[in-house]
Amino acid sequence: MSLAASASVELNAQVADIQLLPEGYGPTSIWGFEGTAPGPEIRLAQGDRLQRLLVNSLPEPTSIHWHGVRIDNAMDGVSGLTQKAVPSGEIFEYDFVVPDAGTYWYHAHNKSFEQVARGLSGALIIEEPDEIDVDREEVLILDDWLLDPDTAQIVGDFAAPHAMSHGGRIGNYITTNSVYNLALDARQNERLRLRLINASNARIFPLRLDGLDGWTVALDGMPLVKPLPITDTIVLGPAQRVDLIVDVVASEGETAHVVHLGQGDAFSQVAFEVRAGGAVKRRGVPSPLPPNALSMVDLGKARAMSLTMEGGAMGGLRSATLGGDSKSMGEIVDAGRFWAFNGAADGMDGPAFAELSQGEHVRIAIANDTAFPHAMHLHGMHFYEIGNDGNLGALRDTTLIERGDTREIAFVADNPGKWLLHCHMLSHAASGMSTWIDVA
Ligand code: C2O
Ligand code: CU
Repeated sequence: MSLAASASVELNAQVADIQLLPEGYGPTSIWGFEGTAPGPEIRLAQGDRLQRLLVNSLPEPTSIHWHGVRIDNAMDGVSGLTQKAVPSGEIFEYDFVVPDAGTYWYHAHNKSFEQVARGLSGALIIEEPDEIDVDREEVLILDDWLLDPDTAQIVGDFAAPHAMSHGGRIGNYITTNSVYNLALDARQNERLRLRLINASNARIFPLRLDGLDGWTVALDGMPLVKPLPITDTIVLGPAQRVDLIVDVVASEGETAHVVHLGQGDAFSQVAFEVRAGGAVKRRGVPSPLPPNALSMVDLGKARAMSLTMEGGAMGGLRSATLGGDSKSMGEIVDAGRFWAFNGAADGMDGPAFAELSQGEHVRIAIANDTAFPHAMHLHGMHFYEIGNDGNLGALRDTTLIERGDTREIAFVADNPGKWLLHCHMLSHAASGMSTWIDVA
């Protein structure tokens, strides 16, 4: 295929310098789509065709995964499972239909623990057919960068054993759309749709609203049946998204915030400076977003499976299988693995965790028998989280499971192909916390 023959817009993965740190610091060398971080926002209408030509100008192979999209398997972008990584200097055309409205994102999926940390991600927004009753929307990509403050450069030990065996690679510079303390304008009683995306490698963002009041309307792109009033902390694990509809309740001259509740002091993740010209009255409760057409799971007939996550620091795992043989933990660690799923540390190279027939109903109890939280992501299909009451809860593509907890998920295996199931703490995914399911 020649570039000229393609209807696709180019998405050139390249090395570039951007000003990430404040004035006074030097620029940071990143890897970004079109040389920016985040990469260009891709915005389509539900049912549209996405056509992008990945041009790989990086010094190593790459590929693009369209996170959360119920996609044709051949377009899923997983190097080593659904396609060959695209070598440096070569191209690959992504061409598929986007079936669901919502907030999604795209990111590199070869050596993700390095390539995403270097900046290879962007927002993918699929608009509902009907206009949503808000004054405007903001796409807010939350990320953290591990930077050397002396040189302003990204710290290069991406495969650091400490990050792999503990909580993952945690940055020291927290940004929204690559800006620290992002500040935006707003008006009193303005109604905003906030599309929050956690693009970090491993950071869990605990957020509170101050001077903003509203509802959660979608999780991981999928609308809630009913808008849920925000009364508490919003917790966003790696790769998760949340859509909020909020009203600016701070007055003119004040500043509203999305507050980041870190381990240390809370700080302003995003500030909204309230300008003159607001409305006198708030609007009423918003309507739910129109639902996407997903198959409903029948828990009664669902095949039950279980997946136990083990290993890591303070995990007490003594041995695991690798390549079919039982190995001591020392041997596993020598092979660059720290974690195991059901006793196997093979990651993506091992056999499928499940062979499912197309249309089969499945429930998987995922037990976190480690000392760290994990954000488990299934490619190709959304799943329902099963609530403590045993009923189907929210639809998600990534579920955050605290240490010691078990989360049961359920879905209809209606999308044929090989689908990755992995922790989205990307250092974990690279060191044993990956497997896949085969739907045929
Ligand atoms: Cu967000 Cu395997 O991906
Ligand atoms: Cu993990």
